[in-house]
Amino acid sequence: LRILAVTSEAFPLAKTGGLGDAVSGLAMSVQESGVQVTLLLPAYRSTMAHVNQVSVISELAGLPGGDATLQAAYCPELGMPVLLLKNDALYERDGYYVDPDGLEYSDNALRFAALSHAAARVAQGVEGVLRPHIVHAHDWHTALTPLLMHQMKVTDVKTVLTLHNVAFQGVFPMANAEALGIAPQYCTGDGMEFWGQLNFLKAGIRYADLITVVSHNYAREILTPRFGCGLEGVLASRGSDLISIPNGIDIKLWNPQADPYLRGRPFSADHLANKALCKSDLQRSFGLIENPRASLMAMGSRLTTQKMADLAASAIPMALDAHADLQVCVMGMGDHTLEAQLSRLAERYPGRCGVYIGFDEAHAHLLHAGADMLLHGSRFEPFGLTPLYSMRYGTIPIASRVGGMADTIIDPGANLPAGSMHAATGVLFDGENPGDMAAAIDRAMGLRRYPAIWRAMQMNGMRTDFGWAKTAPAYLSAYQSLCPTVALERI
Ligand code: ADP
Ligand code: GLC
Repeated sequence: LRILAVTSEAFPLAKTGGLGDAVSGLAMSVQESGVQVTLLLPAYRSTMAHVNQVSVISELAGLPGGDATLQAAYCPELGMPVLLLKNDALYERDGYYVDPDGLEYSDNALRFAALSHAAARVAQGVEGVLRPHIVHAHDWHTALTPLLMHQMKVTDVKTVLTLHNVAFQGVFPMANAEALGIAPQYCTGDGMEFWGQLNFLKAGIRYADLITVVSHNYAREILTPRFGCGLEGVLASRGSDLISIPNGIDIKLWNPQADPYLRGRPFSADHLANKALCKSDLQRSFGLIENPRASLMAMGSRLTTQKMADLAASAIPMALDAHADLQVCVMGMGDHTLEAQLSRLAERYPGRCGVYIGFDEAHAHLLHAGADMLLHGSRFEPFGLTPLYSMRYGTIPIASRVGGMADTIIDPGANLPAGSMHAATGVLFDGENPGDMAAAIDRAMGLRRYPAIWRAMQMNGMRTDFGWAKTAPAYLSAYQSLCPTVALERI
């Protein structure tokens, strides 16, 4: 079975968040089961450092945004062939979606329509590439692909659309339709029209053969107005073509026993001692007082309202004032106003609060390894990889009870110490007020007074298997249901 995975991100070729991690994790795990996976993504500036054996396959004339070149390459880190769509005018930039000031590129519609057209052309047949049996698109950036394949009458190749985030839909003025290569008959309410505009995600939801959602809970939530963001009706109309397959995490990359970023301080559920050394490393690198007895709470995410960075800016000082032994470190970037609000906390609480505006993998690993708790509020969270990374490193998540996190984090309940600690892995909270978040931090701090309970929660999280190997079979059977006559493995 041959799958073409078309995506705007795939770690390490391109990543702004969990989408990149999830696409690569999924691709590698289904490939391990014998399926042939090829990634298709733009030849961004960052991408070229992670590929070799680059060769030109064909010219794709007349794509939105101009003629482009299709290149074949190989990504050794993924162990996977990659097709790159090269059009420097569209992709040769430092950012993926936004400019250095955080503003969306004004030609994003063209940039991602071109990528979707390229996928549809490969499905139709391009010399030098074997036609795939299934094109698997991810999120709005590539969601135009199923519609374009319908328009091009490519009916013998099936399509899957995975929804990682329904809040981002790719909505653009109707007047762009012609430039984006979308025929007029698709620009109606039955097609991709949405309140008078073009909606890329709606195109995918309408025309994909199968839609998958990255957690069971989010799959239910998006059928409601609060989380469906206007697409709840279109989603519901797909009935049993909409299924949920939870993500996994890359347990080789996120492994406290063999993590190159931990500089010779491996630890595991049975040998936790080195976690204390990671904690002092983390305290040092964030300018915090090096106190092993302090309770260190980390926050590492995109600093946006999705991630409740606005609430955190109020809840963190409330918690720091309430708990003298609490320390906080924040790493992330995103909304510049929220970045500034959080940065001010570091000035207000020297030695107790450290803030690093930016993101790199080395800090992300140290953060999960060294902290006692991870603060991860979300207004909506399709899956939520970050709390799972933290659990793997014995760091207790304090998270919103939404989306995938309601499925993956088990709260001990209210009756502690007698509560159901034998399964608990973290603290969940409801609500969107700073007080709700601060109360959850209080509850976690309360649990820390019971070392046996804390330790049990750490062990539960560290021993839970969230690896992709567990979820890959669900994708395989979904693929197989679309192509029942094609053998999964290459013979
Ligand atoms: P989301 O995809 O919504 O950001 P996830 O928790 O599923 O949420 O995935 C976040 C991923 O992005 C993790 O791999 C995390 O290490 C990484 N990450 C967190 N903050 C940033 C940031 N500011 N910039 C880039 N990547 C980030
Ligand atoms: C999105 C979601 C996040 C999810 C990730 C991978 O970025 O916001 O919750 O974990 O995609 O599917």
